[in-house]
Amino acid sequence: MGGRGSDRLIRYGGGFADDLVVRASGSWLELDGGGRMLDFTAGQICATVGHNHPRVTAAIQRSLDEVIHLNSWMLSQPVLDLADALLGTVPAPLERAMFLSTGGESIEVAVRMAKLSTGRFEVASLTRSWHGLTGGAALTLSAGRRGYGPTLPGSFALPAPYAYRCPVRACNGQCDCTCLEAGFELFDQASVGSPAALVAEPVLSAGGVIVPPPGYFARLLELCREREMLVVFDECQTGLGRLGTMYGFEAFDVLPDFLVLSKTLGGGVPIGAVITSAAIEATCHERGFVHVTSHVSDPMPAAAALAVIEVVREDGLPARAARAGERLRGHLDELATRHEVVGEVRGMGLLCGLELVEDRDSRRPAEAMGVALTEECERRGLSINLVRGGTGGAANCLRMAPPLTISDDDIDLAAEILDSSLAALPATTRV
Ligand SMILES: Cc1ncc(COP(=O)(O)O)c(C=O)c1O
Repeated sequence: MGGRGSDRLIRYGGGFADDLVVRASGSWLELDGGGRMLDFTAGQICATVGHNHPRVTAAIQRSLDEVIHLNSWMLSQPVLDLADALLGTVPAPLERAMFLSTGGESIEVAVRMAKLSTGRFEVASLTRSWHGLTGGAALTLSAGRRGYGPTLPGSFALPAPYAYRCPVRACNGQCDCTCLEAGFELFDQASVGSPAALVAEPVLSAGGVIVPPPGYFARLLELCREREMLVVFDECQTGLGRLGTMYGFEAFDVLPDFLVLSKTLGGGVPIGAVITSAAIEATCHERGFVHVTSHVSDPMPAAAALAVIEVVREDGLPARAARAGERLRGHLDELATRHEVVGEVRGMGLLCGLELVEDRDSRRPAEAMGVALTEECERRGLSINLVRGGTGGAANCLRMAPPLTISDDDIDLAAEILDSSLAALPATTRV
């Protein structure tokens, strides 16, 4: 991770890749040295429909000819069309949308609206969560916490349903939701009586691709309703098909009060969305809700997002993600039979992870090995992420989230590269 030519940049997260990317198309990146890399991270999990999808680039091109940006009170047709298209993908009472720039910003808007409409301020999130690193980063519990002083008062952590390393030592392999009950017990004891909201990802991605068990979110919603807390589903990564359904909340058969999207919505262009009910919107408006930003309701990102939604719907990408995810999962399960370093295979649809351990008995995170493996994959032409999920018994998980348009051949190729990279690790790490 040398970051050739990067010495004038602020280092914001470890290091930079060596090669410069000169072009991106579909699931592939072209490097300045002439090489190619299969992108198993869909950029920063944003290239849902593949890099530089022609429909997205055409929409951006139209905006360049018509209008890119406006003052925050002026509307344009792409924004109205996007609101119609997006709200057409969600059930009532999710009937109002707002368009911002990033995921962290959109989470903050949902939380601000939850606070304003409930008149309370306490907000809970799950350990190992990632909800952005803006001011409300108090809710991100997997990274970026140490060394920046106090976070927001009224922020609470609930233990994540991470059955492989159960945070409350109640289960092993299959979460029985004890963590959820224990988490709310802690919350109730620490609360000053002002519960406003709970924010959660359907699958905790940066936390190590942790998939909550069936029934988890139904119970979570019940516990929130008992306390009159609003539920914010952070679907920045899972929205628009990645888990094999249009949204994660459908897969878990629940309906949140707020749906937050970003990443996957823009097809590579920065845009975030907050969706909520007409009732919550009206209450916030009556109470003077203000959240004006430089790029709220901008036409150009809205046009790109509209193109993404059209492609996702027309090409049936949620179903494609389910099928492609099964194929990938089949490869990963097979790899786990031959490579001892794979402690667990997890995931849903095209969001998969391999938890890497020193050995399957101790389950000690194989940290150096994780880094070596991602580097080996990169050398062999596969870009893949290692996610750690925070301090204290951290996961060490190789995360895979390719574009939903990835071909079967490219999935097979990625599995071959993973296999040969695992085999290239020291012999002690293999069965
Ligand atoms: C689930 C989730 N929510 C929110 C965010 C924050 O998005 P952004 O980086 O655009 O602020 C991320 C970013 O990785 C994310 O993965």
